[in-house]
Amino acid sequence: MLVEKHTFEEVAYLLIYGEMAGENFSDALKEMSSWAYVPESVLLTLRAQNKNAHPMGVLQTIVGAFGNSEFASSEIGLDTNPAAGLFNVVDSKYDEAQSKLESMTMVANAGYFVGTIGRWLAGKKPVVRSGFAKSLAGNILHQLKNGKYDDFEEVLMDKVLILYAEHEFNASTLAVRVAASAHTDLVSAIVAGIGTLRGPRHGGANEEAMKLMLRIRDPKSVKKHCDELLNKEGARLPGFGHRIYKKVDPRVKIIKPYVRELSRKNKDMRWFEITLALEEYMSEYAKQKGREIPANIDLWTAPLFYLMGIPLNLYTSLFAASRVAGWCGHYIEVRHIFKEPIIRPRAEYVGI
Ligand code: CMC
Repeated sequence: MLVEKHTFEEVAYLLIYGEMAGENFSDALKEMSSWAYVPESVLLTLRAQNKNAHPMGVLQTIVGAFGNSEFASSEIGLDTNPAAGLFNVVDSKYDEAQSKLESMTMVANAGYFVGTIGRWLAGKKPVVRSGFAKSLAGNILHQLKNGKYDDFEEVLMDKVLILYAEHEFNASTLAVRVAASAHTDLVSAIVAGIGTLRGPRHGGANEEAMKLMLRIRDPKSVKKHCDELLNKEGARLPGFGHRIYKKVDPRVKIIKPYVRELSRKNKDMRWFEITLALEEYMSEYAKQKGREIPANIDLWTAPLFYLMGIPLNLYTSLFAASRVAGWCGHYIEVRHIFKEPIIRPRAEYVGI
């Protein structure tokens, strides 16, 4: 299984290049954590945002700003990253090799930008160039926790990044594919993906799940809070249900033991127990409705991030930072491998 034997960097390479990294590139991947870079114009854009705005909106804005930055359209930064100056290309000379380099840079930067947003929100000085941590997971933790994290947390962050990296034709990936089919540039396609992932029915569910758990606070209060929530017309319990997984989300089986382990290490079982109690509640609720509504990955990344001390409003941005790898793979497939025609469904007029 990829999540057991490989790093997020290797999985991102696999998604983007379509094969496992060979000897030569494996060495480069080890250095990927030093590629991340926040150009001056991106910092200026970040500082112009309102601190009350949701970090997903801020991420969308600064990823877009990166596509227009001095790094992306000139050769500033070429000493540390071969993709400098290659961005924002929409002409016919744009090729697959270029797209792949650009993609790897976006993967290296996306998590770094989330860390940068976290520092900005906390009033800490930005760290413009990476290179302090030994992995992309470490880059994120280094920024968010001021370098105070251990190897176990780095491994857990790496595993979450792998689990979130790709998931076929989900809503945000479809948005990216539609953008790619119009031959827009990679950064613009990623911006479309971030905007879609933000919704609470999709990636936004991990933040909603944690907000619910914080209101519950005690496993014994699960029923009261969930009854109240589900009493409203069309309500959904965040972290449950999936368009494809109707019986079990296999990612949950992988992540749950890690949440248990981290809870034990932190000597704080409360959130693990509340999450289990939510699963039990939903199992009973679904049975009464004559269906199955399994827990999805967002239910379990919520307590994991919480126990790692990640600010709640950054959970969905971390999902986005990981999914950038999958989005890039889809962008390349649509644009360079299958050379797909523009995605343009017809609407059928059925009257007023
Ligand atoms: N809470 C309560 N009932 C639910 C839930 C839920 N979370 N999910 C599904 N159901 C019920 C729903 O009431 C419906 O019953 P009925 O037909 O009687 O109205 C039935 O199950 C089918 O639900 P649906 O919403 O039609 O299913 P869908 O496949 O269209 O939607 C979903 C899937 C993920 C949008 C939905 O389950 C949901 O909104 N879940 C909560 C948000 C969430 O956790 N999203 C994260 C998804 S996984 C990570 C990702 O890729 O983003």
